[in-house]
Amino acid sequence: MLHTNIIVAPTPEAVGAAAADVFEALIHAKPACVIGLATGSTPLPLYRELIAREKAGKLDFSRVRSANLDEYKGLAPDHPQSYRRFMQENLFDHISIKPENTIVPDGLAADVPAMCEAYEKQIETWGGVDLQLLGIGHDGHIGFNEPEDHFPAMTHEVALTAMTREANKRFFDSLDEVPTAAFTMGIGTVMAARKIVMVVTGADKHDILMQSFFGPVTPQVPASILQFHPDVTLICDAAAWGK
Ligand code: PGA
Repeated sequence: MLHTNIIVAPTPEAVGAAAADVFEALIHAKPACVIGLATGSTPLPLYRELIAREKAGKLDFSRVRSANLDEYKGLAPDHPQSYRRFMQENLFDHISIKPENTIVPDGLAADVPAMCEAYEKQIETWGGVDLQLLGIGHDGHIGFNEPEDHFPAMTHEVALTAMTREANKRFFDSLDEVPTAAFTMGIGTVMAARKIVMVVTGADKHDILMQSFFGPVTPQVPASILQFHPDVTLICDAAAWGK
C-alpha cells in the first residue's frame, strides 16, 4: 500500500475526469508517450473525456502510441465484440492517434507464441509503457490474468474462467458465443509500466477492491500484485470505495 495514491470520486464520470487528468499530464510532458489501454465498461467515461479534451484543443494524440491489454482468441479485428473494434469505436476513431501507433493482440494469430513475443517486442521497441490503464474483474483479474497459482510474466494465451465469461456475456447474444480463450499481457508486462492507473466503479467491485489493495499479495487475487508497484493511482467511485 505504501505507494498507492487513492482518489475517491463521487461518480463514474468523475472517475473518468480524474483519470483523464493523469493522461493529460503525461501527454503534455511527453507527447510521444506510450499508453497501455483497457476495455470494459469502466474506462468508457475516461475515453469520452479524452475525446472531448482533444476536440477542445487541450490534448494531442497525434504522436501517442498505445498498446491494449488483451483480445479474445478467435475474434477478427472487425468482429463486433472484439477489443480492437471496441477501441476503434470508443476511442481511436475519434482522436488523432495514428492507426499504426495502436496495437491490440491479434485474436486470429496462427502462431500464438510468435504473436505474443512480437507484442512484447513492439512495446519494448517503443521504450516501454509510460502509463498503463487497468480495470479490475470481480475475481481480481487484470487484463485477462485470472486467479491461478503464479503470476504470469509475459503476453500469453489464457483460458477464460466461467465467472469472466458470465460477466462478459452481456455483450454477446448468448454465453455460448463468448470465447473460451484470450490473449493478454502478463502480470510482468503490466508491472513493467512506469505508472499505473486503475479505475474501479460500482458497489459490486467493493469486495475485490478491498481484497486487492488491503489483503495479502497473492496470484489468487492477481490485482493484489499492484501493492508492489512503485507508482499506482487507484481512482474509484464512492460506491466501490464503500464506507
Ligand atoms: P468492466 O471490466 O470495466 O466492464 O467491469 C473490468 C474487467 O473485467 O477488467
